[in-house]
Amino acid sequence: MKRIFLLLLALLPLLVGAQHTMFRPAQEWTDTEGRHINAHGGCLLQVGDTWYWYGEHRPYRGFTTEQGVVAYRSHDLMNWTPCGVVLAVSEAAGSPIERGCIMERPKVVFNASTGKYVMLFHLELKGRGYAAAQVGFAVSDSPTGPFTFLRALRPNAGRWPTEMRQKDIEVAQQQDGGDCECEWWTPAWRKAVRRGMFTARDHEGGQMSRDMTVFIDDDGKAYHITSSEENLTLHLNELTDDYLDFTGRYHRIAAGGQNEAPTLLKRNGTYWLICSGCTGWNPNEARMFSAQDLWGDWKQHPTPCRGEHAKTTFGGQGTYIFRMPDGRHVFMADVWNPRHLSESRHIWLPITFEDDGTPVVTWQDEWK
Ligand code: DGJ
Repeated sequence: MKRIFLLLLALLPLLVGAQHTMFRPAQEWTDTEGRHINAHGGCLLQVGDTWYWYGEHRPYRGFTTEQGVVAYRSHDLMNWTPCGVVLAVSEAAGSPIERGCIMERPKVVFNASTGKYVMLFHLELKGRGYAAAQVGFAVSDSPTGPFTFLRALRPNAGRWPTEMRQKDIEVAQQQDGGDCECEWWTPAWRKAVRRGMFTARDHEGGQMSRDMTVFIDDDGKAYHITSSEENLTLHLNELTDDYLDFTGRYHRIAAGGQNEAPTLLKRNGTYWLICSGCTGWNPNEARMFSAQDLWGDWKQHPTPCRGEHAKTTFGGQGTYIFRMPDGRHVFMADVWNPRHLSESRHIWLPITFEDDGTPVVTWQDEWK
C-alpha cells in the first residue's frame, strides 16, 4: 500500500502538469494544472523574483474575446501557474470591451513613478471585425490585477509625425485623403502610401493601431510601436510619463513596408526591431530593422532567424522580446492555430548576437 502511495506521489507531477525542465518551442506547453497555456500575443514582466506572463485568452472556437486578458506566474520561466483573468471583458452592452470584442497583444509595464501596472492592448470593437483599430489602456495596483479599463482610442488625432515637414504634409494631403484614384497595390498607390496618404486620411480622427508592443527605454520613457495605416506602416508613439496616454509625438517606420507583430530590444545603444509581414494567421519571414535613435533612421536587415523553417519564422509570428536580468534576451512568438486559437503554441528562443551586434534567433528543438 505504502509503495503504491509513493508511486502515485512520484507520478503526481506527470498527472497534473509535469514539471518542465526544458523549453520545447512549438510543442504543447502545459501550466501547473496540466492545461495548455492559453496566453497568446503576450509579454513578460518581472516583479521581484516572480515572472508574469500576460496574454490573450482565446476560445477553442471563434475569434472573439470571451474572457479577457489572462496572466500566469512563474519563478523559473518554464513552469507557469494560472493567475486567471486580469482584465475582464465587460458585460455592459456598448462598452468598448464588451464580451465579443477582440483584445490582442496585451503588454503590461510597471511605472516606477506612479507605482501602477499599465496595460496597453490592441482593441477591436464587438461586431466590427478589425475595422476599429484602437489601443486600449488599463491600469492596476497589482501585477495580477484586476486591471481597470480606462479608455480606447486611435492615437495622435490632429498630429503629424515628427519627420514630416510642412512640405511633406502638403504632399500627403494632396494624396486624395486616402481615396487615391489609383488602384491599391499599383506603383502609384505605393508611392502615395509612402508619402503619407493614410497618415493624412486619418489625421483628424487618429491613426489606426493594430499589432503592437510597448518598449521602455533606459531612461524610463515608454514607447508604443504599432502597425498603422491599414497595416502598411509602423508608428512609434511616445507615451506620457505615467504611460496612460500618448504625448502626440510619433514617427513613421518603413512607410509602406507592410509590417506587423513588432518586437523591440536595445543592446549596446542600438535598437533592433523584429517584426513580420502581413499574412493574417499564416507565418511569414521575419523582418528586422535597426536604428541608433528610436526616431530614426531605421535600416532594414535580413531576417534574424536561422535553421529549419527560418523562412517562416519557424511557423510563428513574434510577440515580444524579454530581457533577463543578466542581459540575455529571449524572442517570444505565437504559432497561430486559427481553427482552435486557444491551442496556438508558443515559441521561445534565445537571441544571440554576432560580433557586430546583429541579433540571431536560431531554431532549437529544446533548450534550457
Ligand atoms: C496577424 C496578427 O499579428 C494577429 O495578432 C492577429 O491580428 C491576426 N493577424 C488576425 O488575422
